[in-house]
Amino acid sequence: MSDTPELALPKKENWNSKLGVVLAVAGSAVGLGNFLRFPGQAVNNGGGAFMIPYIISFLVLGIPIAWCEWTMGRMGGRYGQNSAPGIMYALYRRTPAKFVGAMTLLIPVVIYMYYVVLEAWCLDYCIEFFKGGFAETFAKATAETANHQAEVDAIVGATGTHFGEHAGMGEHGALFSGGRMIWLVLFCFLVNFFIIYQGVTRGIETFCKWAMPALLICAVIILVRVLTLPDITVGLGFMWNPQWDKLYDPQVWLAASGQIFFSLSVGFGLILCYSSYLRSNDDVVLTSLSASSTNEFCEVILGGMIVVPTAFLFLGAGAASESTFNLGFTTIPAIMHFMPGGNFFGAVWFGLLFLAAVTSSLSMLQPAIAFMEDGFGVKRRASVAMLGVITAIGAAGVMYFSKGALAMDHTDFWCNLMMIVAATFQVLIFGWVIGAEKGVKEMNRGADVRVPRGVAIMIRFVTPTFLIVILGAWSYNKLPGYLEQMNPEKQGEVAERAAYVEAITAHFEPENLAQEVLDGKILGILGPEGETVIATTLVEWLREADDAAAEARKEAAADANIARLVFLGIIVFFILLVVLSDIACRNRIGRMIAVAEKEGAGLEAGS
Ligand code: ALA
Repeated sequence: MSDTPELALPKKENWNSKLGVVLAVAGSAVGLGNFLRFPGQAVNNGGGAFMIPYIISFLVLGIPIAWCEWTMGRMGGRYGQNSAPGIMYALYRRTPAKFVGAMTLLIPVVIYMYYVVLEAWCLDYCIEFFKGGFAETFAKATAETANHQAEVDAIVGATGTHFGEHAGMGEHGALFSGGRMIWLVLFCFLVNFFIIYQGVTRGIETFCKWAMPALLICAVIILVRVLTLPDITVGLGFMWNPQWDKLYDPQVWLAASGQIFFSLSVGFGLILCYSSYLRSNDDVVLTSLSASSTNEFCEVILGGMIVVPTAFLFLGAGAASESTFNLGFTTIPAIMHFMPGGNFFGAVWFGLLFLAAVTSSLSMLQPAIAFMEDGFGVKRRASVAMLGVITAIGAAGVMYFSKGALAMDHTDFWCNLMMIVAATFQVLIFGWVIGAEKGVKEMNRGADVRVPRGVAIMIRFVTPTFLIVILGAWSYNKLPGYLEQMNPEKQGEVAERAAYVEAITAHFEPENLAQEVLDGKILGILGPEGETVIATTLVEWLREADDAAAEARKEAAADANIARLVFLGIIVFFILLVVLSDIACRNRIGRMIAVAEKEGAGLEAGS
C-alpha cells in the first residue's frame, strides 16, 4: 500500500429507492439476450427439454453468483469502491485480485462495443416499421408470388436481403460507404453517454424507472396479440415440445449455462458495480431475487412465447429454428407481414428491443466510468469522453469487419469465455477468501428474506465445481475448433479444397449434364478432333476451379486474420487494464481503502 497522504473518501452516490435499484439491475439483465438469444437457444437445443439444464444453471449458477456479486459489491461500496478492480482489491489484497478485477472491468466494455451496434439495428427496424417502409418491401417481394409458400419464401428472402444490406453482412466496410447505420450507432452512443453523464441516480435510475415499465407494457401488448392468434397453440407446441435425447448432448448444457450468464448479466461485473451504490444495510437477498425473477419472466414467458411460436405459425419450422440474428432480424420482420397490424406490432416490438438494449448497455458503461473516477480521480466529463472514444474505436472495428458479422461473433466468443472465468474467480474469492459462512452472514445483513441454509455450502463447493466443469467442457468442446479458425494457413487450405471440389462438381450437376451430352455429340460429329475441343473445355473448367479456390483461400485467410486481430485487441486491452488496475490499487484506490478501513469499513464488513 502507498505511503502517500490519506485521501478523503468522496461523497458516495446511493440509489434513491429499492424499486429504482431493482429496475436498474433488471434493466441491465433484461436485454436482447431475453427476447432474441433465449428463443433461438431453446428451440435449437431441445425445446422444452432445454429448460432442465437451464433451470439447473439458474439455481446452481445464476442465483448464487448473483448473490455473491451483490454482497461483494455492497461490501466494496463501503470502501468507497464502485468498480471491479477496486472492489476485488478491497476484499482480497493480493495480485490475483488485480487480474480478476481487470478482467471483470474489461468484459462489459468489450460487450458494449458490439451490443451498441445491435441496439442500432433495433432502432433502425423500429423506425422502418414506424414509417411503413417494410410494407413497400413486402409489396415488391410478393408482387408475383403464386401461392402461400412462394409468398413466405419471397418475404423471408426480402427481409434477409434487407438485413444483409443494413448490417453490412456482404462486405467488410460496407457500413462506412453510405447508409444510415453509422448515424444510428452514433445516436445510440449519444443516448447512452448522455444518460451515463447524468450519474447513477439522475441518469441510470431515472431512465430505468420509466424504460422498464414501458418495455414491459410493449411486451405484454405483443404477447396478448400473439396469444389471441388462431392456432397459436401449434406454435407453442413446436417451441416447447421436449426433445429429451438432447439432454445427453454436452453442448445443450453449455448453451443453457451460457444463456444464464449472458441473460442475468452475472460474471461481468455489472452487478458488482450497481450494488456498490447500496447503503451498507440495504437488502441484497430479495433485491437480487426480484431482479433475477423479472429477468426470467421476460425471458421465459415473454421471450419464449412470442418469437418462435409466431414464426412457426406463419413461416414454418425452418424460419422458426433460425440462429439468433436471423430469428431477430429476418424471421421477425417477415412475421409482421402475415400478422394483422404487423406494422404497428413491428414498431412496438423493435421499440421494446431498443429500450431493453439501452437499459443493458448503460450498465456496461458505468463500471468503467466508476473505475476512472475511483482509480484516477478523473472528472465525470473527462471519464465519459475517454470511454466514449475507447468504445467508439471498438465499435468502429466491429462495424468495419461486418461481413458475416465476423468481428461481432469473435468478440462475443471471447466475452463468453471471460464471463465464466471471471465468475469462477469471483465465487472462489467469496467462498474461500472472504469465507462462505462469513460471506453469507454479510449477505443476510439487512435482508428482507434470509438466504436458505445450505447456500454457504453451495457457494463453497457446488457452484465452483459446476463452473470448473463447464469451463473444462467448454474449452474441450469449443476451444480447439475455434483456435483453428484463427489459423490463416489451415483455414485457407480447407476453404481452397472446398471451393475446388465445388467448382468441379458444379459441372456435373443435373443442369450441366447438357454439357456432357454436347461432348458426346462433339465426338460423334467431329470424331477424333472433338477430343481437342473436350480437352480445351476441361482445361477451362480446371482453370476456373483454380481461380475460385485461390480466391476462397485468400478470403478464408483474411477471415482468420480478423479472428486474430480481435483476440489480439482483447489481450492488449486486458494487459492495459491490468497495468492501470495495478497503478490505481497502489495509489488512489489503496489510499481510499485505507481511509475507509480507519473509518470502520473493514470491521463493518467483518474482515
Ligand atoms: N443481460 C443482457 C442481455 O440479456 C446483456 O442482453
